[in-house]
Amino acid sequence: MANHKTRLAVFCSGTGSNFQSLYHALKERNIPAEFTLCLSNRPECGAFSFADQHAIPTVHLSEKQFDTHGAFAAAMLKALDEHAVEYILLAGYLRKVPESVVNAYAGKTLNIHPALLPKFGGPGMYGINVHKAVLEAGEKESGATVHFVDPEYDKGPVLLQHKVPVKPGDTPESLASRVLDCEHQLYPDALELLIRGTEL
Ligand code: GAR
Repeated sequence: MANHKTRLAVFCSGTGSNFQSLYHALKERNIPAEFTLCLSNRPECGAFSFADQHAIPTVHLSEKQFDTHGAFAAAMLKALDEHAVEYILLAGYLRKVPESVVNAYAGKTLNIHPALLPKFGGPGMYGINVHKAVLEAGEKESGATVHFVDPEYDKGPVLLQHKVPVKPGDTPESLASRVLDCEHQLYPDALELLIRGTEL
């Protein structure tokens, strides 16, 4: 369809720096897509501030608001439907997406993970924990991975991956910062690949 912009939702829990880099990349690279929803389990997160500043609708959804997991999942599907979302981008969303949502958006949900999956993934492996584990294992390199989300945590097919070195004297924080810089390039590359469907 001429001039159709693919409608994206971003799910965040924290700062939202990946969301910001994706948002700016859409404009800078002229990618025919737009954010129509920012969903978070934490209403006070940086991602919501950014969304508000850019007139992107926000929805706060936390499992705690619901009596059952099914009701939570149904509310998430309703929000996605109401905003006519076509693709979901998990960007620092530190909760498991309900299986019914994963299934409804099979092949249409991406996640970014701050390590070289399949290493250092799975339950408990998020944020600074990942970088601590990488350093404790004595790895010589780390990196970032963008993958499709399937019902198994951090196990879906990899779309793009990029390595960064682990440097002598690295702390979890210094490694996190190097990996995050890499993420801010990698996620826009992956989104462009997804939307344009071409090799970069
Ligand atoms: C990013 O490093 C992202 O890869 C990580 O959380 C951070 C969010 O930062 N995600 C995970 O660990 C998921 N397992 P951001 O809010 O500034 O984008």
